[in-house]
Amino acid sequence: MGLPRRTFLKTAALGAGSLLPTPGVSVGAGLPVPPVFRGGTLTVAPASLSVWPGWLTSVLAINGSVPGPTIRLRKGERFTAEIRNGLPAQNLVIHWHGLLAPAAVDGHPRQEVPPGHSYHVGFDIVQEPSLCWYHAHTHDLTAEQVYKGVAGLFLIDDPERDAKLGLPTGARDVPLVIRDWKSNGSFAFTYNPSMFEHMWGYTGDRILVNGVPDAVMEVDRGLWRFRLLNACNARVLRIGFADGRPFQIIANDGGLTGSIASVTAFDLAPGQRAEILVSFADASPGATFTLRSLAFARLPAGGGGPAGPRQGDPLDVMSFRVTAGNDGTATPTSLPAPRLPNPAHSIRTRSFQLGMTNQQHTINQRTYELDRIDFTVPSGAVEIWEFVNQTANLHPMHIHGTFFCVVSRHLGGVLQQPLPTDSGLRDTVLVYPNETVRVALCFGPRHGEFLMHCHNLEHEHQMMLNFVVTDGGTPTLEILEVEGKRLCRWPLSAAGWQLETSADLLNWSPVSGDPVVRGVYLEWTEPEDARLTRFFRLATV
Ligand code: C2O
Ligand code: CU
Ligand code: CU
Repeated sequence: MGLPRRTFLKTAALGAGSLLPTPGVSVGAGLPVPPVFRGGTLTVAPASLSVWPGWLTSVLAINGSVPGPTIRLRKGERFTAEIRNGLPAQNLVIHWHGLLAPAAVDGHPRQEVPPGHSYHVGFDIVQEPSLCWYHAHTHDLTAEQVYKGVAGLFLIDDPERDAKLGLPTGARDVPLVIRDWKSNGSFAFTYNPSMFEHMWGYTGDRILVNGVPDAVMEVDRGLWRFRLLNACNARVLRIGFADGRPFQIIANDGGLTGSIASVTAFDLAPGQRAEILVSFADASPGATFTLRSLAFARLPAGGGGPAGPRQGDPLDVMSFRVTAGNDGTATPTSLPAPRLPNPAHSIRTRSFQLGMTNQQHTINQRTYELDRIDFTVPSGAVEIWEFVNQTANLHPMHIHGTFFCVVSRHLGGVLQQPLPTDSGLRDTVLVYPNETVRVALCFGPRHGEFLMHCHNLEHEHQMMLNFVVTDGGTPTLEILEVEGKRLCRWPLSAAGWQLETSADLLNWSPVSGDPVVRGVYLEWTEPEDARLTRFFRLATV
């Protein structure tokens, strides 16, 4: 993946850095490639890295690296890892963003472990090749831990397939983890959002790519594939080249989209991924091209307040220095498309109002509560979820446990043109101010408790809901005799079902008294006086 090590050292030496590059660790320039990880232990712990030449910066590293190692596996393989919390004073849990992971290891904040503890993760890769990522999802600490470095790529790839499709592979297939950083006059990852930044997001004034500022990479005049992740806490990147050169978007969160959209710029929101093909065939050797986040003004304010770095500020991402060669590869003319949920088969529409209530970021007037299940979704059925942005803010909405397709965008009741990034499967969609975005989804094969939230990480801890995906069938009700008492128990995941009782199998009513949570079951004890004279069933609420 990425640049061969030889090129890495050479480009690193071009920079102003005086420190020797260490493999897999950030240096002052060049484009470092994070180490590859295929299974084993991932330890999150404080570290000092040379992010800026001449400085050692305190970070939260994964196996000593920021960004963390790139997990690389193929469809059909099994991912197994031991996650070690080496943080001195904070809990930790890791979420596999874009991976269809079982709910039990998806990284729900309730799965977090205290300092010094580890937990095991193991699941099969059941999805198509795509660029995913992983990051901290700790209760109330996602923003801070991700900002300080707890994030890395999770690449499901298939170079043979890609070579057959005519896509650049190997050293021409370059993942770019893009994030911003707020310099604050010091070379530290200081996370101290003001009131204003809690409102709009913690946006920085500099960009780091694969962990370094001012990254420079040598490219020949052939075709290149860049896989972009927006790992910023809050900044929406408007990706484009300074010279306005066109490029092709071929993939997003869910992998290849089936379309080859030629654009000069597109918006990449926090959490989103996009893959682009870029050719420098027209450039003269020695020329330099800058990839930027272009200026935009879709917000009345944003970022660090009137004086600070704002959402929509233009920023340089990295540059490419062109060398003489050319591999002669042409842009492919067709690529396979994923199967999308069909919105015409939708069984219901759920509406989520993205708003502001009592100075808090809310979904349907609610802020997040760790132990509250907000709704239940049957798997195997197509639903439309509608995000209604009632604010002047940008909200990249992310759903765990599935992919979706963007069905429509409305602004002031008027249907908008789809964006070039709206094709294919996504797990995160950017909802612009006052916009209504509809997506179609269908859960499965994973069941259990998942999250839906805004991926502006300053909003996330409030603007988040828990939902439970049921297996679509009736949950099993078990009736047991325990120590002379009769117990009814059923899976905790059966939210939306209630226990009913009847004396004659004709007239049913809900049982009185609340069931107790015991492990993965809800449990209800039959009162003495009713013993053996009644029938029970689970019924949908
Ligand atoms: Cu990338 Cu729930 O997050
Ligand atoms: Cu996710
Ligand atoms: Cu938001």
